[in-house]
Amino acid sequence: MGYDPKNPMKDRITDIGPRSYEEFMPPVIKKNFGKWLYHEILEPGVLMHKAESGDEVYTVRVGAARLMSIELIRDALKIADKHCDGCLRWTTRNNIEFMVDNKSKLEPLKADLKANPMFPIGGTGAGVTNIVHTQGWVHCHTPAIDASGIVKSVMDDLFKHFQSMDLPAQVRIALACCLNMCGAVHCSDIAILGFHRKPPFVQHEVISQICELPLAIAACPTGAIKPATVDGKKSVSVNGERCMFCGNCYTMCPAMPLMDAEGDCVVIMMGGKISNRISAPKFSKVVIPALPSNPPRWPEVVAAVRNILETYAKNANKYERIGEWAERIGWERVFEKCNIPFNVKTIDDYTLAYNTLRTTTQFKFS
Ligand code: HEM
Ligand code: HEM
Ligand code: SF4
Ligand code: SF4
Repeated sequence: MGYDPKNPMKDRITDIGPRSYEEFMPPVIKKNFGKWLYHEILEPGVLMHKAESGDEVYTVRVGAARLMSIELIRDALKIADKHCDGCLRWTTRNNIEFMVDNKSKLEPLKADLKANPMFPIGGTGAGVTNIVHTQGWVHCHTPAIDASGIVKSVMDDLFKHFQSMDLPAQVRIALACCLNMCGAVHCSDIAILGFHRKPPFVQHEVISQICELPLAIAACPTGAIKPATVDGKKSVSVNGERCMFCGNCYTMCPAMPLMDAEGDCVVIMMGGKISNRISAPKFSKVVIPALPSNPPRWPEVVAAVRNILETYAKNANKYERIGEWAERIGWERVFEKCNIPFNVKTIDDYTLAYNTLRTTTQFKFS
């Protein structure tokens, strides 16, 4: 059927964008949409939702990865076909959730999941759920560090907290591989962030062939890039003193890479969270300004995350998130207790912090 500009909607079978999510809902979710009473966590990884109609939904959550093989996805789909009417869902944190509409279906589903070690059940409540992370070396062009590799190393170490709910409260860990922060690390209990520490170098030989020089110059938020002629060719020069290593120029111009094995490092932040019933949203704060990025297992990063997590678990009150614990005992004592050196780079010097960070919609009835 050809496109008729006089009648654009004729015979149209799709609209722009994805299909409506309603098409993919398990029947019991669709039936009770917006009419839920409450839910509870029955055991690590297993949730029960109760609807006004009396219907119950049992959800089993398993850890997965952001990058998965087709074989593993097929294994997940087979289990969904067998137990869940072919429905399953991926969470934003790369977990997979299998839902059944009757308690009697729960144990057979769990048995099939447990038979495959690639589907560990857990990730709910007061534990460490999957790490939400960005693209890293696999997909993005500006990363200072890898994403999937570090996340795998850290989660291998923290795995027992994925399958248990043995912490004071939930601990959300996130990783972003550059300051663009696609991983929303600013609001995570523990955040792992990639950071460049050297200005870009300019490939003078090729830059005028593969880049629009005015775009590269205009891309720099600090005005560090200027036009220059090098060996008779049009190029640019970078004022290293002004550069803040943001990578904006490299996004516009592939001839200005800024990856550097020594310069690129890992920053650890902690104490962030979104708003909840107990306290207002908090931004994560830098606690370790630079750890080496050390593939393939990043031992320094793994040890730092474990240290923060264990110190928190030992010292915090029940239900207290990492940021709430830090504010109760004071950040100075957090540094002491975690045995993290405090230096000038750890001071929060964001000049607008007072006005912006204290803005919240949270209120309490008194
Ligand atoms: C009456 C409607 C609902 C309310 C008031 C509600 C409320 C909540 C609350 C307060 C949390 C905890 C957030 C936190 O720990 O910070 C939560 C978590 C969650 N909810 Fe709901 N929810 C509702 C319905 C649903 C439905 C229909 C689903 C999916 C079928 C769902 C799935 C989840 C999941 C997967 C979590 C995360 C559990 C975890 O990671 O520990 N919720 N919800
Ligand atoms: C170019 C910009 C951005 C990109 C490419 C991006 C990409 C992503 C990716 C890949 C994820 C993980 C989801 C998954 O793995 O399936 C994610 C999660 C998330 N992003 Fe973004 N994002 C961007 C900007 C933002 C911004 C500006 C915000 C908020 C201010 C934001 C908030 C979040 C949140 C809250 C999550 C979920 C975190 C969680 O589950 O705890 N993102 N984003
Ligand atoms: S955080 Fe930076 S490097 Fe990582 S995926 Fe996003 S833009 Fe790319
Ligand atoms: S990395 Fe950022 S600050 Fe440095 S030259 Fe490029 S655009 Fe400018």
